[in-house]
Amino acid sequence: MDFNNPQKPFNLKPQDFGKDFVFGVSTAAYQIEGAHTQHDKGISIWDHFTSKKGNIFNNQHGQIACDFYNRFEEDILLMQSMNIKHFRFSLAWSRIIPNGTGMVSIEGVDFYNRVINFCLKCGITPWVTLYHWDLPQNLQNQGGWVNRDVLSWFENYAQVCATHFGDRVKNWMVLNEPMVFTGAGYFLGVHAPGTKGLKNFLPAVHHAMLCQAIGGSVLRALVPNAHIGTTFSCSQITPFRNTAKDILAAKKADALLNRLFIEPLLGMGYPAEHVAVLKRIESYIKPQDLKNAVFDFDFIGVQNYTREMVRHHYLVPYLRAKIVKASKRNVKTTLMDWEVYPPSIYNMIERFNQYKGIKKIIITENGAAFPDMLVDGKVHDKERLHYLQAYLEQVHKAKKDGLNVAGYFVWTFTDNFEWAEGYHPRFGLVYTNFSTQKRIKKASGAWYKAFLES
Ligand code: FCB
Repeated sequence: MDFNNPQKPFNLKPQDFGKDFVFGVSTAAYQIEGAHTQHDKGISIWDHFTSKKGNIFNNQHGQIACDFYNRFEEDILLMQSMNIKHFRFSLAWSRIIPNGTGMVSIEGVDFYNRVINFCLKCGITPWVTLYHWDLPQNLQNQGGWVNRDVLSWFENYAQVCATHFGDRVKNWMVLNEPMVFTGAGYFLGVHAPGTKGLKNFLPAVHHAMLCQAIGGSVLRALVPNAHIGTTFSCSQITPFRNTAKDILAAKKADALLNRLFIEPLLGMGYPAEHVAVLKRIESYIKPQDLKNAVFDFDFIGVQNYTREMVRHHYLVPYLRAKIVKASKRNVKTTLMDWEVYPPSIYNMIERFNQYKGIKKIIITENGAAFPDMLVDGKVHDKERLHYLQAYLEQVHKAKKDGLNVAGYFVWTFTDNFEWAEGYHPRFGLVYTNFSTQKRIKKASGAWYKAFLES
């Protein structure tokens, strides 16, 4: 589907992507599970952050969310009825190890065992992310990602997960979007844990970067036949004007948003040549760290939603670069004020494909929030439908052009808790009525089902 020419029919079929290409849906524990203290679950930084007034749109929180904890069978059955064969979800660290270290919760482990077993029974392959932003609060009380002890906390957590679930789960992802949880959570303070500044951000970045490889090594050692990846947020970056200053600003933003975590992982070190302030990360680097940061993942999860336009700006400290909001650029946008720009996903696949050492790319998230209207019990979300088709066409083009992309996961299955934005942006293929927990398949969901069937 061409967004500017919605008359053009979408006629791709799954087999056009090759026979091993996987299609699925993605979710994250805090955004769907609810049951925030049910059984012996510990408090996570998102439980804590959302309990403070003013942090989240309308002071909303994930205490109930989609109540997936109690309704997972219903949701997985719905997935099955929609021909969805691959389900990406994350484990809540604080459900499995309530204090982050020490005692393992039998009930927490049991919950994920039931989810995994039910997926398998329904013919759905589980794809598990170890960490999708919900650090146990007890670890945050000791500094969280800023404290280098997180390396051993995380190693232990990964071991517990690999040992309990590795007999049945073969597809693993270590971290979800480290740039977002360190940037929004430890530099800007707009996500949990809400801390700010370089003194938090730089050590958090370095430790998260090291945990990518730690998680990968643990899974490799403990899970036979594992297929292991880790995921990155990324966006095509375009200079706002064709001036030397804006071009430089775009390069800096690109280094920070797209290169910061992948390049050290591939043994290339931090991209400090464009972002001088990154040199300060050296004070957190111990001998061997850059060597230990390298890990040979089976796949890299690329997560793309939009592109960014960047201009030079004096007042922005460190970077002198600023994102020009989509709403100021007279372009088609989503409810998040993200530009709808399908070629961005092609561009990111192409960029990651150029790195030596990436074996394969999987789109582990792509999707859109639009103001959905429930009319006569139906949601005719034609904008989301067109968005997904247009992005999928770009993924197909990438595949056809010989780029190494092997899968695509829609963000997300049911509408859920969208972090600082609360429940306002709906990203689901399935509409959630948050008062009754009723699920209603949207037009986009019906289309995905038909596409997967074809
Ligand atoms: C990504 C997150 C995911 C969701 C989507 C919209 O950055 O990984 O949890 O919030 O954005």
